[in-house]
Order: sequence, then structure tokens, then C-alpha cells
Amino acid sequence: MDKLLIVANLKSYKNENEVKKWLENFKKIKEIEQNLVNKEIIICPSFQLLFMFGLYADNKSSVINIGAQNVSSFDEGAYTGEVNAKQIKDFADFVLIGHSERRNNFGETDDMFSKKVELSLKYGLTPIFLVQGKDNYIPQGIEIIAYEPVFAIGSGNPDTPENANQIASVIKSKNNNYKVLYGGSITSENVRSFTSMVNIGGVLVGGASLDAEEFIKIIQNE
Ligand code: PGA
Repeated sequence: MDKLLIVANLKSYKNENEVKKWLENFKKIKEIEQNLVNKEIIICPSFQLLFMFGLYADNKSSVINIGAQNVSSFDEGAYTGEVNAKQIKDFADFVLIGHSERRNNFGETDDMFSKKVELSLKYGLTPIFLVQGKDNYIPQGIEIIAYEPVFAIGSGNPDTPENANQIASVIKSKNNNYKVLYGGSITSENVRSFTSMVNIGGVLVGGASLDAEEFIKIIQNE
């Protein structure tokens, strides 16, 4: 758990062809493999791409882990359109829960997040729980938290590393075992200013991870 986590959130972007290109460009990661010993890389694509990314992770490189971007708040059953934790576990080891885009666009609540966390843990998925500030409710069983202030997401206007570090310190004061990541407008140019902060254990990268070469630079520069 003391490795630096670098998480790519591909959001609702990319179809099969676009992912083929992304994976082709991502092969260059091999060139910096010796830099990766203290880093854990987690890529979170949309559900329909989990299989492709999973094959890549198994066959080409052991340094990549796969995460889902969402999980049902229901267990398996008659829930049309849902993808549940047991199903996701076939392809991924991590799952993002609590993103502000889920709160704001899909009406997800703390209660739903708690159920998602509970089911993820039941089936062996590690939740990466997102909070928008220091006062968000954090469900039981969480070990990895990502602080993502809404103003910083996709805006090109990240929080300051000092403030992110301060928020991370408040979050860790609730439970010293929490690993706290920062997310919001991370680029290859600013990543190091965040990962060099004492309370920040990694980054969650949205927009900048859509370009595999920029994502490799982020991994390299941190
Ligand atoms: P961003 O997104 O890097 O594009 O700001 C981060 C996220 O929403 O996870």
C-alpha cells in the first residue's frame, strides 16, 4: 500500500478502435519500466472496454491494473442494465466510487455509495472512494481516497498542491491508514508538485490520460 498510485479515469470516452490506438501508444511504457518499481498504475475504462484492457494487462505488462468506473449498488439479480461487483471482478481489481460526476449527473447519494462499497468489498474489488472536500462522508472499509474538488475537474485549474496536501492531512487524521490521492486537472507538468507533498499518495488523472503518451509522461514525471 505504500506505492504511489497513478490512476487513469478514461470517463465515457473511447470506442474499440480508439482504445486499440491508445494501447498501441501505451506500449512505450516498456521504455520506462525500470522507473515503475514504486508505482502502481490503474487504468479505469468504461465497462465495455474492461475485457480489452484486461487482456492487455495480463499478456503485455504486469505493471498495469484495471479498475471500473462504476458498480451497481445492487447485488446480482433482476436489475436490468446494471453491472454488479461480482461481474466486474472477472475483469478488474479496483472500482471508482463517489465521483462528483456520479453525484451531479446521476443523482447518486452517500447511501448508494455505501452500498456500492459494501458490495465491492464483498466480491474482492478495492474501492477508490472520491471526495470533493474534507467533510465528505467516507464509508466503512475504504483504504484509498481521492480528493477531487469540483472546480478543478476538467477545468485546467487544479487546486494548489499545498491546499490539496492540507485537505489530505485532515482526511488522514480521521484514519491514518487512508491513502489519499489528488485529482483535478493533473498534467505531466504539474504532477510532481502534487506527488511530492507528504500527505498525497498518488494522483487520479482524467482528461490527460486520454492521450497515452501524455499519461506515460505523467507516470514518468511524477
Ligand atoms: P480531470 O478529471 O483530470 O480531467 O480534471 C479528473 C477526474 O474527474 O477524475
